[in-house]
This record gives sequence, structure tokens and C-alpha cells, in this order.
Amino acid sequence: MSHFSYQDGVLCAEHTPLTQIARQFGSPTYIYSKAALVENFSSYADACKKHGRTDDTALVCYSVKSNSNLAVLQLLGKLGSGFDIVSGGELLRVLAAGGSPRKVIFSGVGKSREEMQLALSHDILCFNVESIPELHRLNEVAGEMGKRASVSLRVNPNVDAKTHPYISTGLKDNKFGVAYEDALTTYRVASALPNISVVGIDCHIGSQLLDDAPLLEAVDKLIELIDALAAEGIVIHHLDIGGGIGINYDNDKPVAVGDYLARVFAKVDAWRAKNHAGAPIKVLFEPGRSIVGNAGILLTEVQYIKHGETKNFAIVDAAMNDLMRPAMYEAWHGVQPVLQRHVAAQTYDVVGPVCESGDWLARSRELAIQEGDLLAIMSAGAYGMTMSSNYNTRGRAAEVMVDGATVHLIRKRELASDLFALETLLP
Ligand code: LLP
Repeated sequence: MSHFSYQDGVLCAEHTPLTQIARQFGSPTYIYSKAALVENFSSYADACKKHGRTDDTALVCYSVKSNSNLAVLQLLGKLGSGFDIVSGGELLRVLAAGGSPRKVIFSGVGKSREEMQLALSHDILCFNVESIPELHRLNEVAGEMGKRASVSLRVNPNVDAKTHPYISTGLKDNKFGVAYEDALTTYRVASALPNISVVGIDCHIGSQLLDDAPLLEAVDKLIELIDALAAEGIVIHHLDIGGGIGINYDNDKPVAVGDYLARVFAKVDAWRAKNHAGAPIKVLFEPGRSIVGNAGILLTEVQYIKHGETKNFAIVDAAMNDLMRPAMYEAWHGVQPVLQRHVAAQTYDVVGPVCESGDWLARSRELAIQEGDLLAIMSAGAYGMTMSSNYNTRGRAAEVMVDGATVHLIRKRELASDLFALETLLP
């Protein structure tokens, strides 16, 4: 069920008209629905429960990079979520939001010594290590601190996620993970290091996957490795399948989260039943987009209607700096007028004020709009605000979270003075 719907001709977030939010907080503004976030997280948590998983046997680690607002992290943390982070900054956000470091996994190819120190000092659950040099550095840093770092190796299962090349990560020729063929050797190196404790195995093959077949293929390949490692006495306690489940942007039909998890657990259970006794392996997921993507929209106001020689433009007050996805990936986002007008629709490119031809949010859309109208750019909850910038000295949008008829301001709009606050004039 969408939590953004028309009520009496006005687009609402839950029970709050977007016109009211624009009056109160201005535009552009990111708007998140609390009910949608809860529902999306619950689709993971409920599936875990349904298949007999407890906190000891399954953990959902929300991928912070998709939307890192403190209130979003706080809400998910309270629902029991763990967190997948990729920087020291994201760890500090999780802590500031009250999240538990014991449920934090640290992914990413380029962890610095300082980031390792920070994460070790908070005893995070696990480092997802991506290379041998990183293993050596982590071993060294942990040794200096008198700690042992829990480690999983990100293995590149070399399966084709069949998604946009920029967000496909499980193939041979990208920078992520350890090659499948090198996994055993890398685990041998890891298990011989004194300050490293091997606990898991992980992968992340790509994002916006509509079909779970590549993910299940990746599970099979990781399971084979777990068996090969067990034969050498290297015991893997958790299997982390990464994120990747897609959402509906434009008549997309992503697999239902519950069905995907059911298939993962069935695979893991069948494998355990066949040749393993003892404690079941813990399964980890790192979803981002499927939790926040459709829980958020970007509200923007039409500044001008411009009739060009070959095209009509709706020039809005949001731009590529607010939502990079169209410019960067030619991503498609739905556009819905906040007020349903009964005037003839025309075809528009929805563009922003930034001085780049690539500054567009949507192309060739039939819209019945006029100057001053509000538009909702749909499915903007994931990789929207987190990828925004200050290009053209544009302050970042405000963020609000709607809970029924209540609106919480969860990030103030940036002022120009905020943007140059860290700069100094020459003496
Ligand atoms: N785990 C790892 C290691 C990742 O790199 C990612 C996303 C996730 C989990 C979460 O994946 P999700 O469940 O959200 O698919 N900016 C792009 C998406 C980049 C994804 C990067 N990695 C976009 O706007 O489409």
C-alpha cells in the first residue's frame, strides 16, 4: 500500500496534505512516511520470524548510505535493525541515533586507519573486508589497540545482477570484493593473522534487482565456499547476502521481500539439514532501497513554465544537486502534481535551476500544471538526500517525517551561510 495518495484531490503523505507541508516548511523538501518505513522494515523482520529466526540467527542491517537521516536511523534502530555502514561518519550517525554498535557491520573498499580505530573502539559486530592489504592493516590496527577484529570477507561471486552497470557490483571487473577464486587463499591469510577473528562471509552483487535469482545463485556459491572452508577447519558463523532488492519506480515488479527471504531461508535450511549439525548459521541482510526508497518523495514547486522551440519545460526549485539519480543514471522517477487540475495536460521535461544541461529530474511527462504548482518526485527516499550536494551554492533541502497527521522536521533547510561557514578569507 502506498502511503502517498490523493485525498480530496490533494496528494497526501499519510493523512497530511503536501500543500500543508509546503506552506510550513517550504520547498524543495524531502518527505518520508513513518508508516511506510515501519512497513518496509517489518517485511524483513516478519519474514525472519515466520521462518523461525531469532536475533541470534538473522539480522537485518539497514544500509545507512541509502538514507542516513538520524531520525530514520533512530526509527529503524528501535525496530531492531542493525546497520551496514561504509564510513566512520556513518558509524557516528548510527551512534548519535542510538543504534547499537554490536549490530554494525562495516563495508567498503577503502577503510582508513582512523575509521578502523573508531569502529574497533566501539566493538562493532564485523568488518566486511575487501582485500588482503586491508586485512593486514586491520590486523595491525587491532593489535595496536589490544583488540581482535571480527571479520567477514566480501567475496565476489561473479554472478550477473542484471541491473544498471553503475550499481552492479558482483562481476569480475569491478573494484569490490575478493575474487571467488581467491577466496580460500584470502581466508587462509585471515585466519593466520593474530588479531583477526574470522566470523563470516558476505557479498553484495548490485542494487535495484527485480528478480532474486542472481541473489540465490550467489547464496549457493557462498555456501560452497563455507563447506570448503569448514573442510580446512575455518568456521563461518554468519552468511551475509548484502542488499539489492529493488523497488517499483516505473511499472517495475520487484520480488516480494517475504518471498525472497523465504527462498533464502529454505536454501540455508536444506543445506544445514543435509550435512550440518549444531548451531545454525546466522543470516544477514543489508537492505537499503527496499526499506526507504518508496517511503520518501521530493516535494518541489514549479517556478516557471517555459515553452521552448521543441520542448516544454517545467522549471522547478529542486535540481540535480537535490536528486542526482536522473542525471547520474538516467533514473526514472514518477512525477505527480500535488493538486489534480482539470486542465489539458502537456508534455514537459521537469528541470532544475542548476547550470548544467544534465540538470533534469524527469523527461517527457504528461502533466496538467501551471506556474506555482507543487510536484512530488516519487520514490526518492533512497539515494536522494544522501547523494545531494551543494553545487551552485544551493542549500540542501529540508527533510520531514510524517506520522499520520503529524509532521516532524528532521533536518532543517540549509542556509547559504551554512555552506560557507567552514571557509575563511585570506588575511
Ligand atoms: N550493501 C552494500 C555493500 C552496498 O554497497 C549497498 C549499496 C547496499 C548494501 C544496499 O543496497 P540496496 O539494498 O540499497 O540495493 N546510488 C545508487 C545505488 C548505489 C548502491 C550502492 N550500494 C542509486 O541511486 O541507485
